[in-house]
Amino acid sequence: MNQRIAVIGSGYVGSVAAACLAHVGHDVVGVESDALKLERLQSGVAPFHEPGLDALLESTLASGHLTFTADFGAAMAASEIVFVCVGTPPGADGLPDMTAMAEVARSIAENLRHHHVIVTKSTVPIGTGRWLTAQIQEYLGPESDLRLAFSVVSNPEFLREGRAVEDYLHPDRVVLGSDDARALELVAEVYEPILEQRIPGEFGTRARVPLLQSDLATGEMTKYASNAFLATKVSFANEIARLCDFVGADISAVTEGMGLDSRIGRRFLEAGLGWGGSCLGKDLSALVSTAVEFGYHPRLLEAAMSVNDGQRQFVVDELLRQLRALRGARVCILGLAFKAGTDDIRDSPGLDVAERLVGRGAFVTAYDPMVRSLSQASGVRICEDAYEAARGVDAIVVATEWPEFSALDLLALRAQMQGDLLFDARNIFDPASVRSAGYRYLAIGRPAVGVERLAPVVLMPAPARSGAESEVTGSYATFDEDGRREDGGI
Ligand SMILES: NC(=O)c1ccc[n+]([C@@H]2O[C@H](COP(=O)([O-])OP(=O)(O)OC[C@H]3O[C@@H](n4cnc5c(N)ncnc54)[C@H](O)[C@@H]3O)[C@@H](O)[C@H]2O)c1
Repeated sequence: MNQRIAVIGSGYVGSVAAACLAHVGHDVVGVESDALKLERLQSGVAPFHEPGLDALLESTLASGHLTFTADFGAAMAASEIVFVCVGTPPGADGLPDMTAMAEVARSIAENLRHHHVIVTKSTVPIGTGRWLTAQIQEYLGPESDLRLAFSVVSNPEFLREGRAVEDYLHPDRVVLGSDDARALELVAEVYEPILEQRIPGEFGTRARVPLLQSDLATGEMTKYASNAFLATKVSFANEIARLCDFVGADISAVTEGMGLDSRIGRRFLEAGLGWGGSCLGKDLSALVSTAVEFGYHPRLLEAAMSVNDGQRQFVVDELLRQLRALRGARVCILGLAFKAGTDDIRDSPGLDVAERLVGRGAFVTAYDPMVRSLSQASGVRICEDAYEAARGVDAIVVATEWPEFSALDLLALRAQMQGDLLFDARNIFDPASVRSAGYRYLAIGRPAVGVERLAPVVLMPAPARSGAESEVTGSYATFDEDGRREDGGI
């Protein structure tokens, strides 16, 4: 049965959710407060790069199943179910900034006229379902007879940017959490066409999608636990890659050998520059903050974060070792999007490395097929193509795994450079072809070619005291521009 749905916040998640829910037959009104984004959405154009989304927006707007508005009240009046998809960016204390969620709670209270089910799709700290209920009731006031005219359901989103439409229509699972069984049933009905894979058009069908129904806290925790696991898996591959450097093993072959074990799996087991984007880092910090609030020290989660940050610094440190000085060095960064397939630069590893290099006095150029501008403050000069970005540089760093980078003419690229160092921080090149094109080649956890790799300084773990757990006290040393240890060690 088709439902009347409002989607609040039409960014990466909200616009995809709105278009996909309209595509499977629901009547959806998307609410967006940003006037520029709204104008583009109303004309059927996504305000960011997301494959397949423009076509879906165009067809669902034309069919009348989807509209976009800035009018919150009108959207509430035209719906029984409200999906909340506003941003929850990182806050100062590790927990997400809930300003937009609080604003939505106020608008819901102001516009509540009949019963609504409020579905939180934004990734929100565990306990937010109850917080949202309390916020709305607070705004309604103690005397309001609408205090029980809504229920809250957690419906975490697992889509990946760059594959968002495909992921939304063919999810691995749908997770719903609520303390209200009737609200759970209603939202499960919304998903029925997706669960049963009755997807119109060319999207094809798959096996029935598993539906997991739980209480609110379990639904909210499932999202955080999933992202924390993915982040930890990436960091695991990166830590093993660093050990590969010591022992002369090749991480690509190691992770292939691991990933073929069906208990492990290959996905998210790629060594490189680590994760970025709007989700993994933010969600991991939020989970750590939640644990700390309860007095629990989540060592594994903190280690995953520290290894991820270490990958970015590792690239900077390796460049310093190879170039001997960063001040005045010219470096080209290939790839600014946090991953291939998107133009999203939130917590982008490539941009972070570029800014760390600029901070150390390097001149940085960059090229990304989808990121065409950056704020002036970054100090990074954006170029039209990879060859222009490589002109006169001492080193190139591949920071995003765009397929078109693997197809670059390595000889022509090398001819543009002043130096000869190629740092393949996404392990996309075949070392032998890079070498035959005249480069010195560095990668992550793969044998370097033509490069003397200086052993990083590693402090050994303190010996375990009897009855106590061993504690790792050391880390890689970082170096200043002149090659001195920044912590004053040897
Ligand atoms: N981007 C992803 O890949 C992804 C995946 C899973 C979950 N999430 C989570 O989903 C949430 C949204 O993420 P996003 O990437 O779509 O963020 P986004 O910043 O792209 O989109 C949020 C949108 O909400 C709009 N907005 C804010 N307040 C509003 C209001 N009161 N009324 C109407 N519109 C309002 C903003 O203008 C913006 O367009 C976050 O909590 C995020 O953690 C994101």
